[in-house]
Amino acid sequence: MDSVRPRTEELIAEKLDLERLLAAGGGNTFRVADLGCSIGPNTFHNVEHIVQQVRQKYNHMMMTSAAPEFQVFFNDQVNNDFNALFRSLPPERDYFAAGVPGSFHTRVFPNSSLHLAYSASSAHWLSRVPPEVVDRGSPAWNRGMIHYGSAPKPVEDAYRAQFRKDMGGFLRARSEELVSGGMLVLVFPGLPDGMLHSETQAGSVIYCVNLSILDLVRQVKNKGVLDEDQLDNFNFPMYFPHPREMRELVEENQCFSSIELEVVDPEESTWLQGGVGLREWLVVIRSTMAESFARHFGGEEIVDKIFDGASQKIAERAELVLATNQLYVCLINYRLFPKSFLHMAHSASSAHWLSRVPTEVVDRGSPAWNRGMIHYGFAPKPVEDAYRVQFRKDMGGFLKARSEELVSGGMLVLVMSGVPDGMHHSETQFSSVLSCVNLSLLDLVRQVTKINC
Ligand SMILES: C[S@@+](CC[C@H](N)C(=O)[O-])C[C@H]1O[C@@H](n2cnc3c(N)ncnc32)[C@H](O)[C@@H]1O
Repeated sequence: MDSVRPRTEELIAEKLDLERLLAAGGGNTFRVADLGCSIGPNTFHNVEHIVQQVRQKYNHMMMTSAAPEFQVFFNDQVNNDFNALFRSLPPERDYFAAGVPGSFHTRVFPNSSLHLAYSASSAHWLSRVPPEVVDRGSPAWNRGMIHYGSAPKPVEDAYRAQFRKDMGGFLRARSEELVSGGMLVLVFPGLPDGMLHSETQAGSVIYCVNLSILDLVRQVKNKGVLDEDQLDNFNFPMYFPHPREMRELVEENQCFSSIELEVVDPEESTWLQGGVGLREWLVVIRSTMAESFARHFGGEEIVDKIFDGASQKIAERAELVLATNQLYVCLINYRLFPKSFLHMAHSASSAHWLSRVPTEVVDRGSPAWNRGMIHYGFAPKPVEDAYRVQFRKDMGGFLKARSEELVSGGMLVLVMSGVPDGMHHSETQFSSVLSCVNLSLLDLVRQVTKINC
């Protein structure tokens, strides 16, 4: 994950409000979690880097409080080899270490207990293979295939639905576990918008594994080593999302306020570069899925055969596929206050402000492009619709956050500009004034155009 280090450094330097975080967490312990840590050593490099960056930030701030101590929680599934992880913990580490078993798709930490949660190469794992893809009666039955990359659309849809559920659970759980202002950083494989999974190295390698299993099934038909049902019942529990999907999911989920999302160019990533990509991916896939393969296909011997076959298929393939990208996502916890902290929240003349201008209204390709206008009052209907959708999202997030921050029986009072039912915004004083500003701007644009001519 060397390629994303500079991004994490910047985000910690710019966005982490250390003073507030330490106050919110109680005491001076800074708590970090690595979700899907496996057995090392990557997890140690990642958390050491984070601890070092936070420590550096503290030193730069010259705070008067005592320097924070660090506690790092290593999380993975219960069947992860935590003993192996603990045995290889760096002896010189400057943090306290603890293991936390359990699925990150649900809560694994107490409420408001973490300051920074990190997860590398893990958030694309699904909690299960979508049941439809192994159901012979379903249109999404993935007959003869082990993933959605080269499968019919209903299979991909089933995977997408499962990812949405799982990632929804992941984000909800983290938003509760992080203190207010806490940071969540996710790095995992994804696809640039418009790219198909089958066009990537990861997709191509999974396809070669699939072809190798199909060969074995064919041989078996004659000799009986591996049967068709075993193939049909096996699917990779991973989904590689596009940035657009991920952004939508975070926005719908409304648990986090600020989102920084980018696709990391594979050229920047040392281990994903160039012609070695396919072989590297084969090793990654084998090592991460070794146990499931052995369990499902009946032992190491057959797994060796599958991967030998896949290796040969890879050798026969021209490297036409594209290197697999990583998605880098950083989220800041939505809540302004800890849970059940406020007795009354009041907001005047503020709640009608949107978190951003709806993206469609400045998009020349969209029917909601608000050409020549600065608001929706006198604009065509799609513009008003885009504003309405944005307001619903923002107000949804606002209400959800406050409902968590207020104690039971607490009160929220909102005073904000609005329009009586049945009245249109263009009929209001506010809108008339805005439209005069708009006309004045248009006049200036016309003058500039004349000058340029
Ligand atoms: C490819 S490894 C990544 C390990 C490490 N983070 C790294 O960067 O090398 C993916 C890890 O995610 C873990 N994992 C998958 N689903 C999980 C879940 N629902 N909860 C916790 N860990 C999970 C797997 O057990 C595996 O150890």
